[in-house]
Amino acid sequence: MGNPVRIAPSILSADFTRLGDQVSEAAEAGADVIHVDVMDGQFVPNITIGPLVVAAVRRVTSLTLDVHLMVDRPERYVAAFADAGADILTVHPEATVHLHRTLQQIRDLGIRAGVSLNPSTSESALDYVISLTDLVLVMTVNPGFGGQRLIPEVIAKIARVRALLDARAPEAWLSVDGGIDPQTAPLVVAAGADTLVAGSAIYAAPAGIAAAISALRRSAASA
Ligand code: DX5
Ligand code: ZN
Repeated sequence: MGNPVRIAPSILSADFTRLGDQVSEAAEAGADVIHVDVMDGQFVPNITIGPLVVAAVRRVTSLTLDVHLMVDRPERYVAAFADAGADILTVHPEATVHLHRTLQQIRDLGIRAGVSLNPSTSESALDYVISLTDLVLVMTVNPGFGGQRLIPEVIAKIARVRALLDARAPEAWLSVDGGIDPQTAPLVVAAGADTLVAGSAIYAAPAGIAAAISALRRSAASA
């Protein structure tokens, strides 16, 4: 078996009245990354949070902050999110006319750059930007909401992205986002994912955050 996968709780499903505690609880339970979903009501139908909340999360954790920008023209905001303390900024190719330039802007801010692929977006979107890509975020649901079911057709794409990264960017992370739980984790890990974003499976788990992170880790290790 290779390295253990990284677990990245998505705070989208957290209790926002107790956000600091919920982030700390995930960190104490062994989370590797905190995933923050930024939605603008344009690129996706939902609206969430901005740099102020990222800055607040930054104050309570030293974990990697992986900020997923589901916003149109993300280049307008990358500096603000870097200032707020993001370690990784992930953008969608459809949202920015000049993807190559946007990734370079993120790198120039001294942080890591990610590219997210919607379920209908081909891995070929990575072809000419792979040298600027530190993370590929394969969406296993259509972005916008937590608590959706994984789209099975995307599993084959995870394997194709794995092959692409192994050949051309072996240090890049391959993260998956949407519908990840102890049932689906072995499927995506077997296909080549090394980072699991999970919102509802962690923050809405009846057994609690720590038990949910352990369950995800165990199921991922069984892949
Ligand atoms: C969806 C977001 C996800 C979301 C996943 O648009 O990008 O990060 O929190 O939620 P679950 O894990 O509940 O599918
Ligand atoms: Zn996300």
